[in-house]
Amino acid sequence: MGNRGPELDYRPHLPPKTDYGIGIVGCGGIVNDASLPAYGKHRLNVAGCYDLHREKAESTARKFNIPKVYDTLNDLLADPAVEIVEIAVHPWQQFEVARQAIAAGKHLLCQKPLSDCFAQAVETVRLARAAGVKLALNQQMRWDPAIRAVYDLFDRGWLGRPTEASIQVSLGFELEGSWGATSPRFEVMLHSIHYLDSFRFLFGEPEWVTSRHSRHPLLKNVRGETKTITVLDYASGLQALSAVDLAGPGFDPFVTFHFSGTEGVAYGNIGLLSYPQGEADTLAWRSTKLPSDAHSEAKLEGAWFPDAFIGPVASLMQAIQEDGLPQTDGADHLKTLGVVEAAYVSASENRSVQPSEVG
Ligand SMILES: NC(=O)c1ccc[n+]([C@@H]2O[C@H](COP(=O)([O-])OP(=O)(O)OC[C@H]3O[C@@H](n4cnc5c(N)ncnc54)[C@H](O)[C@@H]3O)[C@@H](O)[C@H]2O)c1
Repeated sequence: MGNRGPELDYRPHLPPKTDYGIGIVGCGGIVNDASLPAYGKHRLNVAGCYDLHREKAESTARKFNIPKVYDTLNDLLADPAVEIVEIAVHPWQQFEVARQAIAAGKHLLCQKPLSDCFAQAVETVRLARAAGVKLALNQQMRWDPAIRAVYDLFDRGWLGRPTEASIQVSLGFELEGSWGATSPRFEVMLHSIHYLDSFRFLFGEPEWVTSRHSRHPLLKNVRGETKTITVLDYASGLQALSAVDLAGPGFDPFVTFHFSGTEGVAYGNIGLLSYPQGEADTLAWRSTKLPSDAHSEAKLEGAWFPDAFIGPVASLMQAIQEDGLPQTDGADHLKTLGVVEAAYVSASENRSVQPSEVG
């Protein structure tokens, strides 16, 4: 142990132009805790912000030196300085804001899930495509340093063909009283969606989804599931496991990952325990393809929160200037949502489900 190994390509790549004007709609937790701290580090151009509760927009503007606070959504959408609208409202509020932003010809950065209603998510993607605007999702775990590094290890062939994957999570999140506690579909829709999206990023589309859902016994006022186990089965024989206990008194919490291939293994921790303050991931790996088969430990810079949040917006900016697709394009996100929807059908009907059945 302790050997550094070769350099891994895991840092976000920023496109040449990054000064697009960003208008923020919804100035709550995720914007204050993650998006704006990440954008500040890269000196992005946040043109203005808006919230239904003006005082939230004002305090966000003060904290991050944002020059304008808009009175209405229309005012934000009418401002030519706003080229990208970042929507950061709850999933069931996102469609209406997105619809108006698309009609105003703005590019969009939306939060996951695009909607809690699959048909509405499909309609949002259709509207954006018809209007010729780019739509990216904030599935920033794809830029988490460890997940990117594992992508690089598979991409270079050092781990061989993937054979096993697992992300296992036990957290003591305080859910009672949170906005998510009102949602009938909680853990997979709002949290595991990151792990399922990361599996799709690393391995592509699964054949089958099998999911079991439960709730921590001490939780009283949370509607949806808080403990889930989801297995993705791939045609190659690969199985990917997401096992999450999100809430309740978390004893010795952990967020671990383990990925095996025919030629090696990579494993470590995701720095999520002090959410929303990030901490560094850890990664150790070993490959039969390298001269020494000793374990290497990668020293990764940055964290899932907030550093990975530069990834989706940078990819959106690159797509705008190259007229390409962002890595977390809306149509791609529908496939992640298809896996999420399949997980709910699986849990409620006690069977394995193909994403094509729901998506
Ligand atoms: N990518 C991630 O890791 C991550 C993490 C947490 C939350 N999220 C997503 O971010 C979104 C917001 O979550 P949050 O925790 O910041 O919520 P929050 O409740 O803290 O903030 C939401 C804000 O939106 C405002 N709002 C609601 N409707 C509005 C409208 N129509 N116009 C303008 N403002 C409006 C509210 O007043 C509130 O200030 C959710 O969709 C959630 O799933 C993503």
